[in-house]
Amino acid sequence: MSFFDTIKPLIYKIDPETTHNIVESIFKTTRRCPLFFNSLISKNFITNDKIKQTLWGLEFKNPVGVAAGFDKNATMIQAWPVMGFGWGEIGAVTLRPQPGNEKPRSWRWPEFEAIQNAYGFNNDGVDVIKERLKKMYPFVLPIGANIGKNKDTPEEKAIEDYKTLVNELKEVVDLFVINISSPNTPGLRDLLNAEFISNLFSELKKLTDKPILIKFSPDMEDEDIRNLANLSVMYGADGIIVTNTTVNYDIIDTPVKKGGISGKPLAKRSYEVLRIVAGEVFGKVPIVSVGGIDSAEEAYKRIKAGASLLQVYSGIIYKGPGLIREINEGITKFLEEEGFSHISEAIGADIPKKLELKENDAS
Ligand code: FNR
Repeated sequence: MSFFDTIKPLIYKIDPETTHNIVESIFKTTRRCPLFFNSLISKNFITNDKIKQTLWGLEFKNPVGVAAGFDKNATMIQAWPVMGFGWGEIGAVTLRPQPGNEKPRSWRWPEFEAIQNAYGFNNDGVDVIKERLKKMYPFVLPIGANIGKNKDTPEEKAIEDYKTLVNELKEVVDLFVINISSPNTPGLRDLLNAEFISNLFSELKKLTDKPILIKFSPDMEDEDIRNLANLSVMYGADGIIVTNTTVNYDIIDTPVKKGGISGKPLAKRSYEVLRIVAGEVFGKVPIVSVGGIDSAEEAYKRIKAGASLLQVYSGIIYKGPGLIREINEGITKFLEEEGFSHISEAIGADIPKKLELKENDAS
């Protein structure tokens, strides 16, 4: 039994938001205790020639990233490599600081290994977060910014929020993630439509050369996912992240009908959505898989389904801080076992080849 397994029952006695604040306070000391944290980096941070990749001109020393929502205010970036992550997203960042929804707004369901959250983009706002990022950029790992509109920004003005956010952050992050898939900001998911996406990308692409990815909800119909994946790429998305949390409350027996569910019960739909998106745009832009990844097996399955990169949030809460090391070691082992010399050979290896009509078949 690991140390984490021993203290888990104690941690679960504290409410999730308080636990997160305690973790944040500990990680904020990373820079002040270099000896201790460097020893953890040596233990947890896995990189090797098989799993290192360059995407969008950025070097990813390993494929596993911090999912959005964990480091909302960019206060823990120094701790990302301590936990073993090869990259990450800060945010969601909004233009103006906002307190988020009323508490309680986060629930842990250990029997399902699920998390439910209704935070609603509580964050310090772009000005404060930009100052924090300035002090550490460029960082040893790629930093993405998950950007969202303020709750009180009307939908017709949302594009202005995204434009200002990109302008403010473009010198202090490596990539952007457009978040219009969170279930916790009213009306946000309505922006997942062709007109908004085409306007958004054409405007944002004028502002920066840095990659701009878009994150999808798992709650769209399959046909809408197909359309949106194609439209996003057509209008200039540099990558697609699948998926955000789900509002399908049937996947667990939850008494709380608000917010979005993440963790193990999301894995099935997140994998399905990955396969749908990969079926449309694999090979055109990199795809990032997130949602219920809690083991090396699950991570490798996502890679073979077409994901170039992965992200984890809830898995850490149930499997502990050793999970990211385990995933990277496991991916390396599976690549070796299957005779792949590099991760790029495994990415998409399970995607069924489309039937090609040969000249002779046409007769
Ligand atoms: C999130 N997630 C999230 N996503 C996003 O795009 N912007 C955000 O601000 C947040 N905030 C957030 C807070 C909390 C407490 C959780 C648990 C999740 C969603 C997250 O990035 C990820 O897509 C899902 O959690 C699915 O991954 P896991 O948790 O199953 O590994």
